Amino acid sequence: MSILMNSKLFFLASIFILGALASQAMARSAPHEAAMRLRHEQWMARFGRVYRSSNEKEARYQIFKDNADIVDSFNAAGDKPYKLGTNQFADLTNEEFRATRNRFKGHMCSAQQGPFRYENVTAVPTTMDWRKKGAVTPIKDQGQCGSCWAFSAVGAMEGITQLSTGKLVSLSEQELVDCDTKGEDQGCSGGLMDDAFKFIIQNKGLTTESNYPYSAADGSCSASKEGNHAATIKGYEDVPANSESALLKAVASQPISVAIDAGDSSFQLYESGIFTGECGTELDHGVTAVGYGESGGMKYWLIKNSWGAQWGEEGYIRMQRDIPAKEGICGIAMQASYPTA
Ligand SMILES: *[C@@H]1O[C@H](CO)[C@@H](O)[C@H](O)[C@H]1NC(C)=O
Repeated sequence: MSILMNSKLFFLASIFILGALASQAMARSAPHEAAMRLRHEQWMARFGRVYRSSNEKEARYQIFKDNADIVDSFNAAGDKPYKLGTNQFADLTNEEFRATRNRFKGHMCSAQQGPFRYENVTAVPTTMDWRKKGAVTPIKDQGQCGSCWAFSAVGAMEGITQLSTGKLVSLSEQELVDCDTKGEDQGCSGGLMDDAFKFIIQNKGLTTESNYPYSAADGSCSASKEGNHAATIKGYEDVPANSESALLKAVASQPISVAIDAGDSSFQLYESGIFTGECGTELDHGVTAVGYGESGGMKYWLIKNSWGAQWGEEGYIRMQRDIPAKEGICGIAMQASYPTA
C-alpha cells in the first residue's frame, strides 16, 4: 500500500515538474497566446465589455495582454504585501486610465494654516472603521468622468452628517458636477474637495443621491433639485499638511477627504492587500479615508474609492500608514480636509 502511494506520488510529482518545465518552455508561444485570448474573452464576459469592431478588440487585447503580464509577474514575485489583478481597467493603458479618472486638481497651494479642531486629541483608538459605525454609504462608481473630487467630498460629508444627526444619507455628487461650476471646480474635468465644501456652504446644503442621481457626465444645473437640501455643513478645515499623526487624529474623529497620487499602473490594477506603491506625490485623485488599522505587522489607512465595488477590496484599498516620508504613502498626508457640522 505504502509503496503504491509512494509511486503514485512520484508519478504525480513527475507530471507536475514536466508540466512546469513545459509551460516555461511554451511561455510566449502559441498555447500561451491561446490561453491569454481565452482569458481576455472571460474577462470581457465578467466585466460586460463589448467592443465595436474586431480592430478595436485586437488593440484592446494587446493592452490586456500587457497588463495581464504585469499582474502575473508581480504576483509571482510575491515580494509585496499586496496583489494585482486583471480588474475592470485591465484593457486600458496607464495613460488612458489616468486621463479619464484622476482629475483632482492638485496644484500646489501654499499650505494654509487654519484651525485644526483635532489638534489636542490624545486618545485615538488603535483601529477605526467608520463603516462599522454606520457612517459610510455603499461604494459608488464615478465612471469615465474626472469627478473624484466630488465623491471624496461627498464621502466626508456623508460621514459628518451621520455623526451629527445619526442618519446615514447618500448625497449627490451630480449636484456638485452640474452646479459647482463658478469657481475652480469643473465637473468631469476636475476639481478640489475644499472648493466643493465652499460651494455646499454657500448653497446652504446638498441634496440626496436619489433626488439628483449621478450620470457620469457634465450637465446643466437643476435649480429645483439644487434647492432641495438634505444635509448641510457649517464649514471645513484642512488637516495640517505632511503629518500622518495629525491625519490619524482627524480620521479617528470622522471620515476625511484625502488627495493621493493614484497614477501608477500598480494602483490601476490593485486587487487586495496593503498597498505600498510604487507611487509619487503628484496628487491626482481624491478619495475618502474611512479608517485605519494594522495587519501582519503593517499599519494601513482604510480608503474608500469611487471606482465601483469590483475594484480592489470590494471598492476599498488599504494603503501603508506611518512611512518615513512626511507626505505619507502617495502623498496622502499632503492635502487632507474635512467638513464641519
Ligand atoms: C489645544 O490646546 C492648546 C493649549 O491648551 C490651546 O491653546 C488650543 O486652543 C487647543 N486647541 C483646540 C483646537 O482646542
